[in-house]
Amino acid sequence: MRVLLVGGASGIGRAVATEIVDRGGEVILAGRRAEVLNDAVATLGPRASSVIVDLTDEASIAAAAAEVGSVDHVVSLAADHANGPVADLAIADIRKAFDAKVIGPILLAKHFASSVADGGSLLFFSGVAAWKPAPGLSVMATTNGAVAFLAEALAVELAPLRVNAVSPGIVDSGAWDSMGAGKDSFFAETARANPAGRVGRSADVVAAVIYALTNTFVTGTTLHVDGGGRRA
Ligand SMILES: NC(=O)c1ccc[n+]([C@@H]2O[C@H](COP(=O)([O-])OP(=O)(O)OC[C@H]3O[C@@H](n4cnc5c(N)ncnc54)[C@H](OP(=O)(O)O)[C@@H]3O)[C@@H](O)[C@H]2O)c1
Repeated sequence: MRVLLVGGASGIGRAVATEIVDRGGEVILAGRRAEVLNDAVATLGPRASSVIVDLTDEASIAAAAAEVGSVDHVVSLAADHANGPVADLAIADIRKAFDAKVIGPILLAKHFASSVADGGSLLFFSGVAAWKPAPGLSVMATTNGAVAFLAEALAVELAPLRVNAVSPGIVDSGAWDSMGAGKDSFFAETARANPAGRVGRSADVVAAVIYALTNTFVTGTTLHVDGGGRRA
């Protein structure tokens, strides 16, 4: 299995990359920062490589498609954020959030669909904010919701190429570590409200990714891996 992972050098993407390499597969990590990519490749070993991709820059996506060649799957975990009251949002931040989650994946489909081997797939990352909106998270809710509809639409347009989405809930992926002391209370409150009684682990999401990549009867689907949090 040869998999391009946009956002594969950190967080959930890094855990997905590790699982694919452990299963004997090959990963190509894509992101904006060469040093972060190089560190991850050094840790993952000889079945890992990297390519620079910035989803705000179509030329970088086209160049990566030419460089990478044939793949079995393209997975994008990229996310950028424009959080806060809508009255305070900067248009540049809103656009970056849409580039990372919505426009970037459309451009990945544009440039990589013809490189995906028979039985392969595209997999994009949505998120629980779309189904459980909160004040200050309107852009996040909208971009994540768009990912689910994008997967449905592309699954029809690009068939028989499969296209799916994964929607994590709150996951202790490392992305929340910048909260510092507030992280523990946020996680405790999330765990209390979640039907599953805990926050997610990267491994929970990795299992859904492997399922989406390998089950050839699953397409146009969003897999919710949120501990039931979208209903909490
Ligand atoms: N962790 C959670 O609780 C949670 C909850 C709901 C949904 N999700 C979703 O799950 C996915 C993975 O989350 P995570 O926690 O692992 O996040 P993360 O560690 O912050 O990973 C995000 C990745 O996106 C890449 N990225 C951002 N903008 C990009 C761009 N313009 N072009 C290329 N790469 C870009 C970053 O790489 P560089 O900065 O190096 O380029 C980074 O590797 C995200 O889509 C997130 O929205 C996570």
